Amino acid sequence: MSRLKTKAGNIEFINPFILASGPPARTGEMIARAFKLGWAGAVTKTICLNYRDMIDVSPRLAKVNNGIKNIELISTRPAGQWVEDIKSLKRDYPDNILIASISAEADNLGAWQELTLMMQDAGADIIELNFSCPHGLPEMGMGTTCSDTPEFAGQIIKSIKQVSKIPVWAKLSPNVSSIKYLAGICVKNGADGITAINTLKGFAGVNIETGKPKLSIAGNTAYGGLSGSIIKPVALKAVSEIASSVNCRVSASGGIASWQDGVEFILLGASTVQLCTEVMLKGFEIIKDLQQGLNNYLLMHNINSVNEIKGLSLKYIKPFSGLDNSAVSTPEINYDKCIKCQKCVRACSDAGYQAITTGKEGFPQINKHNCTGCGLCNIACPVNCIIMDISKNITSNTIV
Ligand SMILES: Cc1cc2nc3c(=O)[nH]c(=O)nc-3n(C[C@H](O)[C@H](O)[C@H](O)COP(=O)(O)O)c2cc1C
Repeated sequence: MSRLKTKAGNIEFINPFILASGPPARTGEMIARAFKLGWAGAVTKTICLNYRDMIDVSPRLAKVNNGIKNIELISTRPAGQWVEDIKSLKRDYPDNILIASISAEADNLGAWQELTLMMQDAGADIIELNFSCPHGLPEMGMGTTCSDTPEFAGQIIKSIKQVSKIPVWAKLSPNVSSIKYLAGICVKNGADGITAINTLKGFAGVNIETGKPKLSIAGNTAYGGLSGSIIKPVALKAVSEIASSVNCRVSASGGIASWQDGVEFILLGASTVQLCTEVMLKGFEIIKDLQQGLNNYLLMHNINSVNEIKGLSLKYIKPFSGLDNSAVSTPEINYDKCIKCQKCVRACSDAGYQAITTGKEGFPQINKHNCTGCGLCNIACPVNCIIMDISKNITSNTIV
């Protein structure tokens, strides 16, 4: 599987798959089990000096659509315990990459430096700065406070770079007006890499029978962070924007649940991909499928190294004004698959251009004269029998 090897700067990963900072990387023992199974690297659960302030509530996780909302804090373990874990992990797994995630108050530059030195001296390969936890921490001047105020992010990195000898990655929040601007500030001040994204601020919902929040802690709740497939489109935008405009390594995080998701992020410029929620739900063993799937994909496409596909899809992302608006992409119906459910007819009638009517034997019929090619029928169809003719343009299996 040597084609899976990837580099972020001078650091080589045996494959692009990394455990993201979170519950699966809560202790050295857990990370060791993941390494044994084939995970190339791991980001520790975020380490801080004020770990005694990190008192978690219960419950702190709720299911939201196809994702999770969490209000978990960062590591509750002393930094000294992490130092011992990092030493053992690097002794036992020298080829795996250990990334120490750290956090302190945005204006406590001394604490950021102290944590960096502790983790670096213990043998960590990379430092990841948690600028992005959206709940609990901001109330202590930590977490997203650093993403919210780019000046803080810049100052922290600048002071860390005075003492660090290993690469420093900044993990950013998607809840900012311009993540590429923030990434640019981080890199200008010395960051070697950007991890994007942390969780997206959200709310689990309300039980309409009781009026109580769904993630209820004795009847109350707090805003938290969404993760899992639900946030993947936000992460794809962030990663591609950063990869195309900022000169740094990008580690993708947010909704990666399969090798195919990993490939998408790599095609959009990521060097490595981090997984948290999927591992929480399915366990460390998924690394086997991730490795195998990516390896087969590269073999099938005759690609010798995963690095060859990095960023290949970025060239297709244009400003809106760069898109061709001269042709209408009209839909075509595959009548062999159509189940005559009329969903396309209703959608086009009430939210489209009245271009689909019910024809002979109940089959939908397209009036190409009325159709503006919006694509709504294609989305509304439950059996994927409506094809937009633009999709026929993609005939090649070659990645170019
Ligand atoms: C329960 C939970 C705890 C997390 N704890 C941390 C943390 O301590 N530090 C951090 O940087 N990110 C933390 N994260 C964010 C994840 O590392 C990841 O960036 C985010 O969940 C999006 O990726 P995913 O969709 O693969 O989960 C946590 C996420 C979850 C769900």
